[in-house]
Amino acid sequence: KGLKLYDPGYLNTAPVRSTISYIDGDEGILRYRGYPIEELAQKSTYMEVAYLIMYGNLPSENQLLDWEFAVSQHSAVPQGVLGLDVYNSKQVRDKQIARIIGKITTIAAAIYLRMAGRPPVLPSNQLSYTENFLYMLDSLGNRSYKPNPRLSRALDIIFILHAEHEMNCSTSAVRHLASSGVDVYTAVAGAVGALYGPLHGGANEAVLKMLSEIGTVDKIPEFIEGVKAKKRKLSGFGHRVYKNYDPRAKVLKRLAEEVFSIVGRDPLIEVAVALEKVALSDEFFIKRKLYPNVDFYSGLIYRAMGFPPEYFTILFAIPRMAGYLAHWRESLDDPDTKIMRPQQVYVGEWLRHYAPIKERT
Ligand code: CMC
Repeated sequence: KGLKLYDPGYLNTAPVRSTISYIDGDEGILRYRGYPIEELAQKSTYMEVAYLIMYGNLPSENQLLDWEFAVSQHSAVPQGVLGLDVYNSKQVRDKQIARIIGKITTIAAAIYLRMAGRPPVLPSNQLSYTENFLYMLDSLGNRSYKPNPRLSRALDIIFILHAEHEMNCSTSAVRHLASSGVDVYTAVAGAVGALYGPLHGGANEAVLKMLSEIGTVDKIPEFIEGVKAKKRKLSGFGHRVYKNYDPRAKVLKRLAEEVFSIVGRDPLIEVAVALEKVALSDEFFIKRKLYPNVDFYSGLIYRAMGFPPEYFTILFAIPRMAGYLAHWRESLDDPDTKIMRPQQVYVGEWLRHYAPIKERT
């Protein structure tokens, strides 16, 4: 097992290499892409500097015109955003936790219904958490509607499996954002943004796309050859922490059969099971300790339940709120909490001098 260094706030950790800016704190030096900050402050403009930071070099006249035009095209902000309040999170945090966990299913259901062109449904507090979510999705406003108890239990298990997973990408985003003292809504919104990525919670959507592309069991060997040639990754396989079968995937594989027995079998399950079997007996995957992760079977279950793929990350975000908020709460209580400010290794331009725009090559 690798050595782990306790490094609150990443004071001594450099997880990236970068060419963007260079700081020598002892000497009081700051350079953007090699240009001394004093020189830029004297000779340049913010728009020009923003271009430099973004694309690596000072812009030509045309590049600067295009850049300024593109930015000004997007300057309007909706009225609602302009009136938002900021809270003191420490005083009201338990209320905020209940609010977020309480409202997330209502918001998620409203999104689902909107995608389906249907009006939102008010929540019911006569039902369990997961039942109420299914009720909002499926009741069409009929207050006596009761979701299938086996299906709501299955979804509840899925929620349990997704509730928390220590410092994964999105939860560490919560920690990172919260360390600046930002309000909790901003912290969890940032986390959901990270969750959506195809290497993280977006992987279940990618798995379905992959299984549909493969289509039939006989196409698996050709697909696996492509993965081994590094043309693409096997979505839903591999994990930063698990070098063995992800325990959540084991439960989900069994749960898929339970859900199929209620809502009907998804034909792509045959492709998924056969793909897993081929991968687990192949040297490429064995050597790299690549096993199915939590996202390998969850997408199939969601699809069988009738959810569209673009909704899958929302189904991950709902239960993961518990983990996000627990980390946020813990960070507020921990006296070691510091603003997260990791280090970097600078590998960019060393020292350059500002050239007027007409003299740039
Ligand atoms: N398919 C093919 N090869 C893979 C895969 C994969 N899914 N995952 C890792 N590898 C290879 C990788 O190319 C590397 O090979 P080599 O040693 O020849 O360079 C080796 O295995 C080690 O991989 P790594 O990229 O160093 O591993 P990592 O810890 O940086 O990445 C991961 C972890 C989850 C991002 C990665 O396994 C992956 O991209 N998997 C597919 C996406 C996925 O299913 N994500 C969901 C993660 S679990 C739950 C969640 O977060 O939502």
